[in-house]
Amino acid sequence: MSTIDYSDKIPNNVNLSEDRTLQRALEQWQPNYLKWWDDMGPDGSQNFDVYLRTAVSVDPQGWAQFGHVKMPDYRWGIFLNPAEQDRKIHFGDHKGEAAWQDVPGEYRANLRRIIVTQGDTEPASVEQQRHLGLTAPSQYDLRNLFQVNVEEGRHLWAMVYLLHKYFGKDGREEGEALLERNSGNADNPRILEAFNEETPDWLSFFMFTYFTDRDGKFQLCALAESSFDPLARTTKFMLTEEAHHMFVGESGVSRVINRTCQVMNELKTDDPAKLRAAGVIDLPTIQRYLNFHFSVTIDLFGADESSNAATFYSTGLKGRYEEGKRTDDHVLKGQFYKVLNVQNGQLVEKEVPMLNALNEVLRDDYIKDSVGGVERWNKVIEKAGIPFRLKVPHKAFHRNIGLLKGVKVAPDGRVVSEAEWNANRDNWLPSEGDRAFVASLMGRVVDPGKFANWIAPPVMGINRQPVDFEYVRFA
Ligand SMILES: [Fe+2]
Ligand SMILES: [Fe+2]
Repeated sequence: MSTIDYSDKIPNNVNLSEDRTLQRALEQWQPNYLKWWDDMGPDGSQNFDVYLRTAVSVDPQGWAQFGHVKMPDYRWGIFLNPAEQDRKIHFGDHKGEAAWQDVPGEYRANLRRIIVTQGDTEPASVEQQRHLGLTAPSQYDLRNLFQVNVEEGRHLWAMVYLLHKYFGKDGREEGEALLERNSGNADNPRILEAFNEETPDWLSFFMFTYFTDRDGKFQLCALAESSFDPLARTTKFMLTEEAHHMFVGESGVSRVINRTCQVMNELKTDDPAKLRAAGVIDLPTIQRYLNFHFSVTIDLFGADESSNAATFYSTGLKGRYEEGKRTDDHVLKGQFYKVLNVQNGQLVEKEVPMLNALNEVLRDDYIKDSVGGVERWNKVIEKAGIPFRLKVPHKAFHRNIGLLKGVKVAPDGRVVSEAEWNANRDNWLPSEGDRAFVASLMGRVVDPGKFANWIAPPVMGINRQPVDFEYVRFA
């Protein structure tokens, strides 16, 4: 008999101690996970005491505890939202039947693929962000980075739990493979392209957590509708944590803008060269970063026409965003949706069966949601009395998947010639020079309450702590 209580080591609300096989499988995976964290997790941070929240239950009133912990000692737990009694499948061909508590044999391969693809993004983002701690603009920001990182680690646990519990040997092998692929690795990369890009600086990090973590939100929302009940319950709880990641992004970009506007008003200039000389990031550069992260992220929703998307929906594996709030028949046969196509050098709308266009449907919902924060950023600029506005680019801009792949489209939606694209590329996307400039600002500010020159302090601290609280204690 084991003398170690692993159910205690792995906080959970799934009665782990009652399922010995599962417990043993996770118990064997845990040291490999910790080794991965050691090798690929936040660089040089193993001994820091970080003021982190840890999920300890799914009670909306108090699901997390705050306290200083060393990240390798973070208690990555497994939490599912409570089961809904007699939950019914509410979309697709099985609509009205009881939700599945186990994996139906005929959908096993597709469900596994969906869970692995979601799971792969979680450790990928930790890998992408692993060097950022070395150039944090403040202790407050360093703590937020680490909070996002440990929670992406927990999201990996959430997916590995499903793989171990419901997919037997295949699932355990997938659990190992999730630790073996690495972001940007030429031989064994992460599954999705955007998760193989580096997150080289903090402006990129804030854009990533605003735009790309929001892609995570939409994918999780679609999976939270799943007929496979354990997947629905797992992803619902992951969404609770995701909100903070997007807050880090939205408030981070907002603080960068705020600081830039202050200096613009102090120096009475909008000249990027003068602003750069003063050590802040000019608004056109922020717009180019926005263009890049927005366009790369909307590619993540996949091809505009996809028979897989239709299958995943009709078989009940993956719903639409807020499926339950929609008033149509939730089967979608014989319905149509407009996607964009290029004809004779112009963007034209094309009607396709809605089932095949569900990636586009989710992408359009995402776009509506992501515009909101950009408008809040514009309020900061407006309040400073500056006549500049940020804008999300047209959805055909800089795309690399589906019908729009490789089509040259300006941010305003005009199809342009190769020559016009080349002449404007550096006005529309971050240039080498932009990236080098932003990189040159990245220093390391670690005194409590101090902030790098290019970013304003936050309005308030974390968990009602003061802004100058000691969020990270360095060993
Ligand atoms: Fe995540
Ligand atoms: Fe996230």
